[in-house]
Amino acid sequence: MIIGGSTHFFVFLLVAIILLCSSIKTVNATCYASEKQALMDFKKDLEDPFGRLSSWIHDVDCCKWEGVVCSNRSGRVIQLHLQRPVPEIHVVGDEEESPLSGKISHSLQNLTHLRYLDLSLNDFSGIPIPSFFGSLRSLRYLNLSRAGFQGMVPYQLGNLSSLRTLSIGGNPSDLQVDNLQWLVGLSNLEHLDMSRVNLSTASNWLEVINIIPSLVEIHLRYYQLDLISHHLDRDTFVFHANFSSLTVLDLSENFFGHLIPRWIFGLTALTSLDLSWNSFEGPLPRDLWNLTSLEHLDLSWNQLNGSLPDELVNLNNLISLNLGRSRFEGFLDGIWNWSSLTSLDLSFNNFSTFLPSQLSTLTALISLDLSLNQFRGSIPSSIANISNLQRLDLYDNNLSSSLPSEVFTSKDLITLDAGSNHFNGPIPSAVGNCTKLEFLWLNDNALSGSIPSNLGRCTQLKELWLNDNALSGSIRFRKMYPARTPFAK
Ligand SMILES: *[C@@H]1O[C@H](CO)[C@@H](O)[C@H](O)[C@H]1NC(C)=O
Ligand SMILES: *[C@@H]1O[C@H](CO)[C@@H](O)[C@H](O)[C@H]1NC(C)=O
Ligand SMILES: *[C@@H]1O[C@H](CO)[C@@H](O)[C@H](O)[C@H]1NC(C)=O
Ligand SMILES: *[C@@H]1O[C@H](CO)[C@@H](O)[C@H](O)[C@H]1NC(C)=O
Ligand SMILES: *[C@@H]1O[C@H](CO)[C@@H](O)[C@H](O)[C@H]1NC(C)=O
Ligand SMILES: *[C@@H]1O[C@H](CO)[C@@H](O)[C@H](O)[C@H]1NC(C)=O
Ligand SMILES: *[C@@H]1O[C@H](CO)[C@@H](O)[C@H](O)[C@H]1NC(C)=O
Ligand SMILES: *[C@@H]1O[C@H](CO)[C@@H](O)[C@H](O)[C@H]1NC(C)=O
Ligand SMILES: *[C@@H]1O[C@H](CO)[C@@H](O)[C@H](O)[C@H]1NC(C)=O
Ligand SMILES: *[C@@H]1O[C@H](CO)[C@@H](O)[C@H](O)[C@H]1NC(C)=O
Ligand SMILES: *[C@@H]1O[C@H](CO)[C@@H](O)[C@H](O)[C@H]1NC(C)=O
Ligand SMILES: *[C@@H]1O[C@H](CO)[C@@H](O)[C@H](O)[C@H]1NC(C)=O
Repeated sequence: MIIGGSTHFFVFLLVAIILLCSSIKTVNATCYASEKQALMDFKKDLEDPFGRLSSWIHDVDCCKWEGVVCSNRSGRVIQLHLQRPVPEIHVVGDEEESPLSGKISHSLQNLTHLRYLDLSLNDFSGIPIPSFFGSLRSLRYLNLSRAGFQGMVPYQLGNLSSLRTLSIGGNPSDLQVDNLQWLVGLSNLEHLDMSRVNLSTASNWLEVINIIPSLVEIHLRYYQLDLISHHLDRDTFVFHANFSSLTVLDLSENFFGHLIPRWIFGLTALTSLDLSWNSFEGPLPRDLWNLTSLEHLDLSWNQLNGSLPDELVNLNNLISLNLGRSRFEGFLDGIWNWSSLTSLDLSFNNFSTFLPSQLSTLTALISLDLSLNQFRGSIPSSIANISNLQRLDLYDNNLSSSLPSEVFTSKDLITLDAGSNHFNGPIPSAVGNCTKLEFLWLNDNALSGSIPSNLGRCTQLKELWLNDNALSGSIRFRKMYPARTPFAK
């Protein structure tokens, strides 16, 4: 009995000690000497003129070093956050601040538990991506975007089978891949960003991506891919996209021939599709409207033409729609049902109809850009229903009649550009409701009468253009400091 009792006691003591030790570890992980040494060696090969790694000193626990994260349980280094910090407030002349440069030591290989490595936005001025990164087998997140790496992307990265996120977009023509077969090894990959990597000779890119069904996000912006030379043009090539969970597809700034590839329309889980800056022509295909989960659609800077199809109404989850800089024309008369739409850009097309009355049913709009078209008629007073509008851009159309006072209803209005139209009559005195107005362009119209005195209440104004009208009178700005005096013309 006594022996049994003391055994119990020892078991209890042992459990207590283990619990105590593990709780100490949880609260205060200290780093392994070998990992500290590996990080010291890594630092030695880096150039750090701004002292970003000044906390990396021998006497301090490396788990407390800037950018280093250790596992609370094992004390192993599991994350390195070494991306160049981007200043929150953009200060001119500050852009070049604090990049790391130099060489990348092989000692990183000794961080065998490393799961997260972010070196983005640094300046490794032209060195290749180290092929030994392929031996950091625990990595789940690797971000080398715009870090100055050049040359061939090492195929050894294909050994990182735990990787969930790979982001290696560079500057144009810095990085190249001539065969993407290695990507098949990344069987858990969810997020791929190879924007601006030259894939023009990687003719198998689409087939390879298709073998990775875990992908949810693909960014292949600007990679000089010429689908026609890879015989993937729409009529001759039938392709079934396997990556049916894909929610984000960014293929902007490429050349895919003149017709939007059909396989894209089968990706019904898409919430964001960016095909801007391509060379698509002709009317919008009707199949596009099966993508009913879309929240963000950008087809700007193409040469799409014809009227917008009625089927657009099916995209009733849209938050932003950009059809600017194309060649659309004709009527806009579908029943729009975009109650979530906050941003609509139809600028620089060839729309020549009356302003559609449906506009004011888009009551969630924050930004509306109809500039550089030939829209006719007047602004409907129902525009008051768009009560959170911050930006209204009507520049360079054929709009006429008087400016309704309702354009100033939104208390959030920051920019109103109604320049280069045929508006007449006075500037409504409701302009004085301008608590946030910074830019007011009414130039080059036929506005007349005296300038409303309460324009002086618009103390946030930065630019005011009233030239080329028939206005009279003067403006007195109250509480105006020199730096605030708006640029008036
Ligand atoms: C470690 O624990 C701290 C405090 O509980 C927590 O803030 C931190 O996120 C944990 N770190 C990791 C990598 O789990
Ligand atoms: C990794 O650590 C071992 C033992 O601490 C050391 O002998 C070796 O040189 C290290 N490797 C690198 C590449 O730093
Ligand atoms: C990679 O880093 C860049 C720059 O720091 C950042 O903008 C981007 O969101 C990161 N990518 C991912 C997938 O986290
Ligand atoms: C993956 O690792 C193995 C063994 O470490 C190596 O032989 C092979 O070449 C590597 N493969 C790639 C694609 O890096
Ligand atoms: C991409 O690579 C191809 C083949 O190496 C080359 O001809 C082309 O000029 C490269 N494109 C850019 C933008 O560097
Ligand atoms: C589609 O994915 C499955 C695995 O989910 C794979 O077996 C098949 O080969 C893929 N199809 C193509 C055309 O790559
Ligand atoms: C769109 O949906 C219709 C009806 O469900 C279907 O017949 C058609 O094949 C779909 N189009 C595409 C491109 O998936
Ligand atoms: C649209 O563009 C195509 C090719 O650029 C042209 O053949 C067609 O006539 C245009 N259609 C309209 C309605 O302008
Ligand atoms: C408008 O959208 C709502 C929900 O988003 C839907 O219930 C309704 O059927 C749609 N109406 C039309 C005409 O598509
Ligand atoms: C714009 O539309 C008008 C007809 O509404 C047409 O005459 C003109 O050619 C079009 N311009 C362009 C650049 O397509
Ligand atoms: C504007 O809103 C009012 C009240 O919510 C509504 O009665 C009216 O029909 C709306 N007008 C338009 C054009 O949507
Ligand atoms: C401007 O503000 C006044 C007082 O707050 C209000 O009575 C008037 O309706 C407002 N005008 C517009 C166009 O919102």
